[in-house]
Amino acid sequence: MESFFSENYETHTINNWIDRSHVNTTEKKLIGQVLKKMNCKAMEAGTGSGVIAFYLESLGVKNVYAFDIIEAMVSKAKHRANELNSKVDFVQANAIELTCYEDSKFDYLFYFQQILSMVPHSELPKALEEAIRVGSDKAIYVFSFMDFNARWYNGVLLFLRKIALLLQGTKPKYRGIPELVIDGKINYRFFKKDQFCIQWYRLEEMNELFKEVGFEVLNSYQGAQLSPKNWPNIYLICKKQL
Ligand SMILES: C[S@@+](CC[C@H](N)C(=O)[O-])C[C@H]1O[C@@H](n2cnc3c(N)ncnc32)[C@H](O)[C@@H]1O
Repeated sequence: MESFFSENYETHTINNWIDRSHVNTTEKKLIGQVLKKMNCKAMEAGTGSGVIAFYLESLGVKNVYAFDIIEAMVSKAKHRANELNSKVDFVQANAIELTCYEDSKFDYLFYFQQILSMVPHSELPKALEEAIRVGSDKAIYVFSFMDFNARWYNGVLLFLRKIALLLQGTKPKYRGIPELVIDGKINYRFFKKDQFCIQWYRLEEMNELFKEVGFEVLNSYQGAQLSPKNWPNIYLICKKQL
């Protein structure tokens, strides 16, 4: 499957996330807030090695489905499922084209950590439209994104990178920002055009976009409102506009 990532970014993502073993306080809080029935179908997007999907199953959710674009992540998640005797259904899929899932399949959909901040900005509406398609009419969604306002210097980085790209003869397409540190080392290629970019968003603009694509935003938060350790994220709890 074609990935959006450069090879070094894919390796970095695997190294950073494949061994994650705990669900954080904010995720537990949000899951607890929305999950009202266990006899349901829940989906976790960008599951990595499955830690959140396994957590949902451990709470008693009957049917848990999860996907990730990176094959190595899905293999690890399936391996772990065997060890845990888990029934979570893991597949390799891209959030912008979820052909593996039929319309209206899910009651709960969780897009935690920065899966949607890893989707190129131009493809984000497609990913949200797919989320709408695979959710039932009463589905509840939890989304998270990297919070642009969480780092005072994001504006400076963006401005400097735009100039660097123009000097390299490339018109900056997105407002994404490459990682400053990759696998524990300063990313000296930060200003190069081939860098994979994370999309950092403001809560106000996400509230607007979500309404435009067909969601009703029930609640939205900056991470620090939910837990001091979660300052870099924003969260939206949504349902479909009917
Ligand atoms: C930051 S990691 C979080 C992993 C996992 N949710 C966790 O909490 O440990 C984000 C994950 O999203 C996946 N991802 C990024 N873009 C994706 C896409 N377009 N479709 C599916 N998965 C994607 C990455 O491969 C990565 O495993």
